[in-house]
Amino acid sequence: MSYNLLKGKKGIIFGALDENSIAWKTAERVKEEGGEFVLTNAPIAMRMGSIQELAKKTNSEIIPADATKIDDLENLVEKSMEILGGKIDFVLHAIGMSVNVRKGKHYTEQNYDFTQKGWDISAVSFHKTMQVLYKKEAMNEWGSIVALSYMAAQRVFPDYNDMADNKAFLESIARSFGYFFGKDHKVRVNTISQSPTPTTAGQGVKGFDGFIAYADKMSPLGNASALECADYTVSLFSDLTKKVTLQNLFHDGGFSNMGVSLEVMNSFIKGQEEQ
Ligand SMILES: NC(=O)c1ccc[n+]([C@@H]2O[C@H](COP(=O)([O-])OP(=O)(O)OC[C@H]3O[C@@H](n4cnc5c(N)ncnc54)[C@H](O)[C@@H]3O)[C@@H](O)[C@H]2O)c1
Repeated sequence: MSYNLLKGKKGIIFGALDENSIAWKTAERVKEEGGEFVLTNAPIAMRMGSIQELAKKTNSEIIPADATKIDDLENLVEKSMEILGGKIDFVLHAIGMSVNVRKGKHYTEQNYDFTQKGWDISAVSFHKTMQVLYKKEAMNEWGSIVALSYMAAQRVFPDYNDMADNKAFLESIARSFGYFFGKDHKVRVNTISQSPTPTTAGQGVKGFDGFIAYADKMSPLGNASALECADYTVSLFSDLTKKVTLQNLFHDGGFSNMGVSLEVMNSFIKGQEEQ
């Protein structure tokens, strides 16, 4: 269903790799709601993923950019304004990667070159993106910038590894930069803390299947899907949420406020009886 919530709005969507990506679903929903956008991803993702298919489907252009490179981001923002014919109303940062996770390095055995690369891609890229947008005065007043986070920023999830620290860093950048963007340009900046979601990045986390099933059983409304995350993001890009800023917004079916659910407790008790 479409409510035309983003009619006339223009934006940039980072991070659509394949049809499972949260950014992919968001691009489709934004289009349905009347928004126009440029798609971007790292040059290597152009070869690995299927972003061209999404571009065709949503009638949008792709500008490759490594989100850790200022030159790439400057080119992206300039070209996007040319293509879209004006300033930007919304930006989705849906980027995450830990080299320690990829290489199977335990949290207590980190390779710090990997650690640095991970926080550059997963957190500092958000600062870099906003700094380029800010300096170029590329955002319209009452624009909205959203990045995607995960609850391991606040609570311990051992296999999430250094991504937990990267997400804490990301959420802090949203608040700190959000202050200046709000004061100087009336732009809001928020993070959405999303349920575990079966995507390429999600499934890279060790024990993901157990993790996602556990979260689903703990949450009174069940896990939030990528499509539901896209819906929530659309609401944050719309004019219905103008005064929401500097927030980390949990979108997780209630998981973040649960202690234990009866379902989880019962399975534990059964497990005990069987022993
Ligand atoms: N999947 C989950 O369980 C989950 C839960 C909460 C939050 N998130 C977050 O959602 C966001 C989107 O991830 P997803 O789950 O849709 O997975 P995904 O693998 O589809 O998307 C991750 C994207 O990051 C891009 N990327 C990596 N390095 C980059 C770089 N240097 N420059 C530009 N782009 C780069 C990848 O190409 C990819 O498109 C990430 O921030 C992720 O941490 C995911």
